[in-house]
Amino acid sequence: MGTSAEEILVRLRQLRQADAPTHGGRVLSYVYDSGRADLDELAADAARLMQPVNGLDPTTFTSVAALERDVIGFARDLLGGDDSVVGSVTTGGTESCLLAVKTARDLWRAAGGSGTPRLVALTTVHAAFQKAAHLFDLELDLIPVDPVRGTCDAATIVEHIDAQVALVVVSAPSYPFAALDPVAEVAASCAEQGVSCHVDACIGGWILPFWHDEAGAPLTPWDLRVPGVTSLSADLHKYGYAPKGVSVLLHRGRDRHRAQFFATTRWPGYPVVNPTLLGSKSAGALAAAWAIIHALGAAGLADLADACALATTRLRATIGAIDGLRVVGEPVGPLLAVAVDDAVSADRRVDPHHWADHVRERGWILQQQPGLVQDDGTTLPHTTHLTITPVTNTHIDELCDVLVGSADAVRGVPTVTARQALAALPVEGVRALADPSAPLPDSAASYAILREIGLAGDTDEPDLPDRMAPFLALVEALPHPLTERLLTELLARVVETPAAR
Ligand SMILES: Cc1ncc(COP(=O)(O)O)c(C=O)c1O
Repeated sequence: MGTSAEEILVRLRQLRQADAPTHGGRVLSYVYDSGRADLDELAADAARLMQPVNGLDPTTFTSVAALERDVIGFARDLLGGDDSVVGSVTTGGTESCLLAVKTARDLWRAAGGSGTPRLVALTTVHAAFQKAAHLFDLELDLIPVDPVRGTCDAATIVEHIDAQVALVVVSAPSYPFAALDPVAEVAASCAEQGVSCHVDACIGGWILPFWHDEAGAPLTPWDLRVPGVTSLSADLHKYGYAPKGVSVLLHRGRDRHRAQFFATTRWPGYPVVNPTLLGSKSAGALAAAWAIIHALGAAGLADLADACALATTRLRATIGAIDGLRVVGEPVGPLLAVAVDDAVSADRRVDPHHWADHVRERGWILQQQPGLVQDDGTTLPHTTHLTITPVTNTHIDELCDVLVGSADAVRGVPTVTARQALAALPVEGVRALADPSAPLPDSAASYAILREIGLAGDTDEPDLPDRMAPFLALVEALPHPLTERLLTELLARVVETPAAR
C-alpha cells in the first residue's frame, strides 16, 4: 500500500516549513513576491490546467502555441520590438542566455567565421554566459569593469570587437552591481561591424520599462528600440512575478531566431524540432506567466514597479546614510550592492558580510557576494546584494531599523582577510590546497576538506555555518578551481541519497 495523499501532503508541508520564506519580503534574493495572493492563486490555477500538456509539440497541444504567441507579443511590445522581432519562451534566464550564445555562434559560423569564436562581455555579466562559453566552445573575453562604477565605457568594450567575435553581451542591469551597461554605443559599434549584440535583461526586462532615473525621466533606451541590439533576454519568473521556469528570448529577425532551433529527421523516431534546449517540457510556468501578464497588463506591472522603486529609494537613502557602508556605483532598477566605505577610518568601517550575517540573525536574508580580482589586477570589493520586490515596502521601517542597527553592531569589526581565512584552516594539508598547482581533490577528499573547514558535520548532511563571512573570505582566498570543486561537492552532498544503513 502506498502512502495516503493526505500523509504525503502533510510531509511536503513539513518540508516546506524548513525553507527560507518565499513570501513576505524577508529574503532579498531568489524570490520575487508581488505581494498579491490573487496573482499567486491565478498562476497556480493556470499551471494546474496545463499540467498534463507536453510543451514539446505546439501542433498537438495547440494551447501552447497560443500562449507562447501571446507572451512573446506582450514582451515584444514592452521591450520596444517592432514586427521583425520574434522569439521563444524558455525555462529561465540561464536557458535564454545559453540560447542567445548558441544562436550567435551558429550565425557567426554560417557567415564564414572559422576557428574559435569569441564571446565579449564584462566581468559582471551573469555567470550563465561563462556556462554558455564552456558548453558551446567559445573563448570568453571578460573585460574588467571600473570597480567604482561596476561597469565600463563603451569605448573599452568596442576595442575588443573584431572578426573573431560572435557575440557581445551587455547587461540591463548586471546582477552583481545593478549597473546598466552602455547598450546604445556598444550596439551601434556591433552593428557597424556586423557582430551580434545581446542585451541580458533577465532581471531588468520586466521592470526597467517602468523605471525612471533620479530626475524622474524614463531611462535612455536599452532594449530593442536600440538599433544594433540583435537579441534580448527577460525573465518572467523574476519581475514578471511568475513561478520559476519561464523567460523570453527575443531576436531581431526570423532568420536569427531560426538559428536557435535544433531539428533532425535523422533517426527512426518522430522528427525532432526543438526551439529550446529541452525536449518534452512543462507548459505550466508558461501558462502561469501568461495568466499573470493578462491579469496585470502593463498598468499593473507599472504599479508593482512603482512599489519596488519606492522601497529601493528608501533603502538606498538608508544604506547610503550608514557610516562605513556605501552603495556601489549607480544602480539602475530594484537591486543594489553594498560595500565597505574605505574612505572612512577603520574603526568606522562596516564590513558588508559581517553586516549581512548580523542582519540574518535578525530574520532578514541578504545575499553575500565574494570579491573578485579582475584580469587587470583590479579588485571588485566583496559586497552584499539586495533584490527589492513590491513586498519590501510591507515591513520597510523594520528592515531599515535592522540594517542600521546591524551596522552599528558590527562597525569596526575587521573584514576577514584572505590570509586569515587561509591561516584559520585547520590542517597544513588543507592549507597546502591553496597552492594553485595542487591537483584537484576527488569526491571523498573534497568532502574531507569540507569537514575540516567546518562546512560539513559528523552526519552525512552538510552543515552550513550561521556566519557566512569567514566562508566567503575562503571563497576569495582559495584558487577558483578548488573552490568550484568544493562547492560542487557541497551541493551534490546536500541532495545525495544517504547510504543505506
Ligand atoms: C542578469 C541576469 N542574467 C541571467 C540570470 C540567470 O537567470 P536564471 O537564474 O533564471 O537562470 C540572472 C539571474 O539572476 C540575472 O540576474
